[in-house]
Amino acid sequence: MKWWQKAVFYQIYPRSFADGNGDGIGDLAGMISRLDYLKDLGVDAIWLSPHYPSPQVDCGYDVADYTAVAPEYGTLDEFRCFLDGLHERGMYLILDLVLNHTSDQHPWFIESRSSKTNPKRDWYVWHPGQKHGPPNNWLSAFGGSAWEFDETTGEYYYHYFFKEQPDLNWHHPDVRNAMWDSVRFWLDMGVDGFRLDAVGTIFEDPSLPDHKAGVTQDDLYRMDRLAQTAAEHARVARLWEEMYQPQHDQPGIHELMQELRSVVDEYPDRVLVGETDDLTYYGDGDNELHMVFNFPLMRTRRLTADWVRKNQEERLAGIPSKGWQCNPLGNHDCGRIISEFGDGQHDEEIARLNLAILLTMKGTPFLYNGEEIGMTNASIENPSDFRDPLSSQAYEMEIRLMGAPPEQAAVYASQRGRDKTRTPMQWENAPYGGFCPANVKPWLPVNDNYQHGVNVHDQLQDPNSLWWYYQRILEVRRENPALREGEYEAVVFQDDHILAYRRVSPEQACLILLNPTAEIRFLDLKHSGFAYRIVYSHHPLDVMDSITLQPWDVVILDESGFQRDSC
Ligand code: GLC
Repeated sequence: MKWWQKAVFYQIYPRSFADGNGDGIGDLAGMISRLDYLKDLGVDAIWLSPHYPSPQVDCGYDVADYTAVAPEYGTLDEFRCFLDGLHERGMYLILDLVLNHTSDQHPWFIESRSSKTNPKRDWYVWHPGQKHGPPNNWLSAFGGSAWEFDETTGEYYYHYFFKEQPDLNWHHPDVRNAMWDSVRFWLDMGVDGFRLDAVGTIFEDPSLPDHKAGVTQDDLYRMDRLAQTAAEHARVARLWEEMYQPQHDQPGIHELMQELRSVVDEYPDRVLVGETDDLTYYGDGDNELHMVFNFPLMRTRRLTADWVRKNQEERLAGIPSKGWQCNPLGNHDCGRIISEFGDGQHDEEIARLNLAILLTMKGTPFLYNGEEIGMTNASIENPSDFRDPLSSQAYEMEIRLMGAPPEQAAVYASQRGRDKTRTPMQWENAPYGGFCPANVKPWLPVNDNYQHGVNVHDQLQDPNSLWWYYQRILEVRRENPALREGEYEAVVFQDDHILAYRRVSPEQACLILLNPTAEIRFLDLKHSGFAYRIVYSHHPLDVMDSITLQPWDVVILDESGFQRDSC
């Protein structure tokens, strides 16, 4: 088994993780000072969101130099120190690789836009447009036309995301070579792989057909806001799909990913993780991406038994035999797990149960910094504090399209944008959660609940805290090979609200019993033929023939080598 199949990944959002130099912005010095924290928590690998120089229009996903470190995050030497510090502790590091686009401040684009004859002109997607406007009706997924008119040369350039993120022209061999050189730069340094940003958007339909959705983005926003029934939500999703269909997952992408795979395979034991849930990116299981995210798992309000069972059956059946899935419940683009999956009453119990699901399912789990202390969606109600342009955009649309009064628009926008999930890590019960000095304003407001136990320091003092639960379940996973490596087998009890499955490896077999409901549930193990050893249980438990599962309960049993005499 490869290291990345056994590992638990932890995503660090560098701007918000730890501020080492006291300027209100997270940095490498901060990350270096928290290396032991990461080791103590028990994660094995870090996915670092972009750490490259960037104008920060899209919080680092607008890269201005692929082979350097953002000055506000530190130096290349500090980066090496972080990497070495992880390796010395037996951990791994993967970087975010943004292939689809660069920043409009990247020297490649500055050259490209300077004249039609510049050698880098065709590194980006330029078009003279039609008589009175852009080449077609394509839209940016982040709002407005996908074509931006550029005065200097009188042509349009294409951008799937913000206009400050021009798309690279991946048909151009020089683009490939330049990017592969950047990839080798980090691999030569010892970086263990990459998370590939927005891979689906790399190619567009070359015949530039208009989209046929028949609605505007404003219409879609309104429909989305007013949708109530499942059918209405499904219609919004279908229209969204139609609107962007010619702009993603186009022919050529798999060949490109295979080319990148062969670059990465020049180095032993590196990994590529695609930001897509499309199983075709596994190729034959051995020639394209090592892992793609199981995003469908998290597209629900509740991880019920039925939901998880169906998800596992569908995903595992679709992955080629040599492929290996990875499972997320959250990241920097969506809401905080505890807020998104909670019911407002049992949020922490549900968070504990969900972690147990994630860490016992087949596949590599991905965690997001701050979830280990139960950081919640922050409410940032002053629009001047928004940093994600999508928050500001939602504010404007709420007022213009929904007629909302500004205060109400701000509350809503703060939940629709992504700032809510990117606020600084809460290290202690001190001003700004101890993220930065009391006299410095952090780059994003800190969630006030650091004063009420949602901070690392307080939770370390309390053996019953969520932090210690994370630490414990991570340890359980580490110590039980079946949980990391075993095959998945669904187990269905008469009460099918109970989520149960076995994980079976050559050395060990575990039975996982989870109660994703607020009711007590009973189950009968009489006919299983095993006498179990308890690996983990929330509550003291006597494993006889029957088990009582408390609400949100987690029980992990080892059945290896304990055949009952009677069988
Ligand atoms: C990915 C990133 C997101 C970013 C977008 C454009 O989806 O996760 O944060 O805005 O790509 O780079």
